[in-house]
Formats: sequence, C-alpha cells, structure tokens
Amino acid sequence: PVNLKGRNFITLKDFTPEEIRFMLDLSMDLKRKKRAGIKNDLLKGKNVVLLFEKTSTRTRCAFEVAAFDEGANVTFLTQSQMGKKETIEDTAKVLGRFYDGIEFRGFKQETVDDLAAHAGVPVWNGLTDLYHPTQILADFLTVEEHIAKPLNKVKFVYVGDARNNMGNSLMIGAAKMGMHFVGVAPKELFPSEELVAEMREVAKETGAVIELTDNIAEGVKDADVIYTDVWVSMGEEDQFEERIKLLEPYRVDMDMVKATGNPDMIFLHCLPAFHDNKTTVGAEIEEKFGLKEMEVSDEVFRSKYSKVFDEAENRMHTIKAVMVATMA
Ligand code: CP
Ligand code: NVA
Repeated sequence: PVNLKGRNFITLKDFTPEEIRFMLDLSMDLKRKKRAGIKNDLLKGKNVVLLFEKTSTRTRCAFEVAAFDEGANVTFLTQSQMGKKETIEDTAKVLGRFYDGIEFRGFKQETVDDLAAHAGVPVWNGLTDLYHPTQILADFLTVEEHIAKPLNKVKFVYVGDARNNMGNSLMIGAAKMGMHFVGVAPKELFPSEELVAEMREVAKETGAVIELTDNIAEGVKDADVIYTDVWVSMGEEDQFEERIKLLEPYRVDMDMVKATGNPDMIFLHCLPAFHDNKTTVGAEIEEKFGLKEMEVSDEVFRSKYSKVFDEAENRMHTIKAVMVATMA
C-alpha cells in the first residue's frame, strides 16, 4: 500500500507510477466529497506556510482553499528574510518548527531543494524555473475526466516552449504514467538532452513513448490532448522578441486542432494564457510586436475543445490531495 506521509513533493521524478496513481485517485475522491458537501477536516490543527517569490492566482488560491476546506491554517509569506539576511537552511529550520508543511514558488530549483533538505516537514514545489509538479496532477486528472481511455493509451502533445517548467514536468509525468508524449517545438526549445535521456529510461519501465519534433503536422496527428504554455515564463521577460520569432508557427489555432484528425481531442493550458490583448502585458505586446494572441488563438481557447477551466479547478482538488497524502 502507498504511504506518502512525511514526503516532499518537489518533482514527479521522485514518485513511482503507483504513488502518482494514488494521488490522482485521492484527488478524485476529495473532489467528489467536496461536491457532495462532505466535510472531513483531514488537516485539522495543521499549519502551512506558502512562500511566494513570483506572482500567482491558481497555485496560491488552490493551496489556501484546499487547506481551509480541510481545517488547516495558512500563512501567505512573500517578504521574508529568506535568501536576503538569512540562509535558506536557517529559514527552513525555523519554519519547520512552526509549520507542518511548506509550499515554495520561486526562481531557483535549488531553493526548494534546500528547503526540503532542512525543514523536517513536507515541502511542496509550487513552481520553480525547472518544474511545476502540482500542475501535472491537475492536468492528468482533467485528461482522465474528459478522455475515455486510460492515461497509458493517451497521445499527449505539448506544443511550444518544451524547455520550460511545464515542458519538463509534463514529459516527466507522461514518462511515469506510460503515456505517448510528443514535444512539438523548435529544436532550440527542446528539453535538455539529460532530462530526455533520463525520461526515456523511465519509459522503458512504464511503456511510455517520448518523442520530440519540430514538425507540427506529424507531431499533432492523432493527438488526444494538445497542451501549450506561455512563450515567455516568469523571470524571462527580456526574451519576448526572440521567443515570438521562434514560436509564432507553433501557435495553437484551429488549423492545428484540425490537423489532429481527432474530433474528441481536448485543449489544455496551465494558465495564465495569452489569448487576447486585454491585459496590461497583452497591450504592451500588441504595441511592440503587433500580436493580439500568442501561444493559443482566442478561438481555440474559447472552443468546445478547451477544458482549461476544469483544469484550473482541478488545481485545488489535486493540491488538497498532495497536502492530505504528505501531511495528514
Ligand atoms: N497555473 C498556475 O500555476 O497558475 P498561477 O501562476 O496563477 O498560480
Ligand atoms: N511556464 C509558466 C507557467 C506558469 C504557471 C511560468 O513559469 O511562468
């Protein structure tokens, strides 16, 4: 039987397929219970701290609502001494004495690794430059809800910046769950060769197929899922021009959806999505580069294929499962 109590949640590399299955099943169960109005207080008396170096809507709110639903208390901390006047190690040792669990979102993967090494309580990765593992659970739960086949029969196509935290994490999750993963990207934005090699080793065990291509038509053919993410991640804002040049052909539009040949395909995106110009950043991009849409057309984003808001809701249920599994 799977027991994750006391474990960190840093990357899905650290988990077996059975453990990932367990967290997905627990997420479904907690989602059903919430919908049925059943309260369990599975985290009663627990205190959790949420450390954020970067902005967030979904991740922060998912942790907070999930904690409140199960009776835990939350501190949201954006301006601490950590890394400025105090080492990560010392901060971890202090927070570990106050709290039963620590979430971190920020720039460097080493920060969350360091926290986990010294806190003595579960540390959850709420996004770093390398990985975004809580997002993957929500994505796979959404796939299971909308596609009538098991994960290991799904062709999952990620289009765009395949080198970023989402590209890395989806490839890892897909390798673990025995899926057919295709990263469709310009060669400059393929994931690192080390990570690809590592995941192909995992794939040998799980039956997964890990492919990378810059050929859009070949890559998306027969896709069950097309997934994309922003072309410029948080912290890379100086790279808009270069990324637009590289990635414009990779915008997910209706032609790409049709090229799958699969009328039952779904479109996913971790959000926030750049599908129109009605934001401050959107307005700047339109002024500078003349683009109203970036990684996905507004048409696809709002189409029947798009399950992005189910996916966003699932952040909450899956993060709840991660906290319950590791802390309760
Ligand atoms: N998908 C996601 O992590 O969203 P936020 O940046 O709003 O947390
Ligand atoms: N790749 C994006 C994901 C946001 C949830 C970023 O890091 O900004």
